[in-house]
Amino acid sequence: MIEKQPEAEYEKQLACIEEARLLAEAEARQKGRPLFAHIETFGCQMNARDSEKLRGILAKAGYRDTENEDEADLVIYNTCTVRDNANQHVFGRLGHLNGVKRKNKDMLIGLCGCMMQEAHIVEKIKKSYPFVDLIFGTHNLYAFPELLLRALRERKKVIDVRDRMEYEPEHLPVVRKYPFKSGVNIMYGCNNFCTYCIVPYVRGREFSRKPEDILDEVRRLAADGVVEIMLLGQNVNSYGKTLDEPMSFAKLLLAAAEVPGIERVRFMTSHPKDLSDELIEAMAENEKICPHLHLPAQSGSSGLLKRMNRHYDRERYLELVRKLRAKIPDISLTTDIIVGFPGESEEDFKETLSLVSEVGFDSAFTFIYSKRSGTPAADYPDQVPDEVAHARLSKLLEVVKKGAEERCGRFTGRTEKVLVEEVNREPGLVSGRTPHNIVVHLPGDASMIGKIIPVKLSVCHGFYYSGEKDGE
Ligand code: SAH
Ligand code: SF4
Ligand code: F3S
Repeated sequence: MIEKQPEAEYEKQLACIEEARLLAEAEARQKGRPLFAHIETFGCQMNARDSEKLRGILAKAGYRDTENEDEADLVIYNTCTVRDNANQHVFGRLGHLNGVKRKNKDMLIGLCGCMMQEAHIVEKIKKSYPFVDLIFGTHNLYAFPELLLRALRERKKVIDVRDRMEYEPEHLPVVRKYPFKSGVNIMYGCNNFCTYCIVPYVRGREFSRKPEDILDEVRRLAADGVVEIMLLGQNVNSYGKTLDEPMSFAKLLLAAAEVPGIERVRFMTSHPKDLSDELIEAMAENEKICPHLHLPAQSGSSGLLKRMNRHYDRERYLELVRKLRAKIPDISLTTDIIVGFPGESEEDFKETLSLVSEVGFDSAFTFIYSKRSGTPAADYPDQVPDEVAHARLSKLLEVVKKGAEERCGRFTGRTEKVLVEEVNREPGLVSGRTPHNIVVHLPGDASMIGKIIPVKLSVCHGFYYSGEKDGE
């Protein structure tokens, strides 16, 4: 069990930031220009939140953020390893960086995140990508200031990957992507060991943060202008089980919604096996809890779900959907689906298609099964050929698209509260999201960003709406 970051450790990391700042300042003076850092995030919301911490630390150390990695003095890739294409992408990008670094020898290149928690990957990088300067993992994000300082000072390769988390990284400086919304980690790791999934191996054992720490963070965010929070965990429905004083996720959600200034609460991800009636009740009764549930089904075949070690079957999933729709009739449901899991027969796949049609998802993330070494399914004998998996993915996408288009129209003519998030590429328009997480484009300007306004959803364009501010 890890502890909240003790003061002394926090002070030490802050001191490292200050020292790194002095070194960076000297380099900037020598170069006659500010130093730039580029952070590239792969993977899920958890990684996105971790990157906000990396950005916060680098900003305090005097680096300016740049989108253009070729002009950066420091490049960090925060990696994901959930599917092999995420890994291949990182290796491809490293190939490009090698060329950039040849022209700019001072460039520092750092890798962190889930890929680095795999020993064979770190070995490969040491051997084939010797120009990488800094490697650390998900468990020692809190020590980034110290590791950065060592890389800057020693100009020698720094590699530090831990197999468990010693300190939470929650007290480090943060630069948020959006001033008005934020993710909040409520737990780390995963204990579910779905047979295809690498996450429990790279993120470690499931562990819940204390409710008072989480709520403190939410209060601080609200004081800093945040109106929407997303509570993050690999399986938020099992929140609180490892606490000294166990607490349900529904209670935490309600407490977060009570924090003054917080207008909307979202959460991700819900595992169907742990979805409680108490949570459904909380979503139905509390207006601030958004009526959107991401509920990964993975497959519609009970046999396959069993071999995936998901601990629910098709009937249980459909039963949950019925319960949700009975209490929250127009709820948005989204999901994740894998095709081509070892042993997936044509019959299994048809059951997935029929589940998708029967539920009517608002959208779905669809993936081709990717073999992850070290997971049980990697050794299953009956791997599905690539061309079969690809053909199934195309078919599944068709069915998902059809269902989503049918569902999206249900809000036409309604007025919904929209949180305006950004100006649109098209001049004179802004874009935002409804509580159901549906994107709306409407006439407006940058002054509306971060505000929640009533918008009439006039025209449905399949997956999004165009609308106008109501009352004008
Ligand atoms: N904790 C979340 C999911 C995190 S990973 C949950 O259990 O719902 C996000 C999604 O990636 C998963 O839902 C799954 O659909 C997909 N995924 C995970 N491992 C995969 C693999 N080996 N191949 C293909 N997709 C995978
Ligand atoms: Fe992976 Fe399953 Fe854990 Fe989700 S619940 S992170 S799919 S092992
Ligand atoms: Fe990827 Fe790690 Fe998230 S493997 S999906 S970034 S927890």
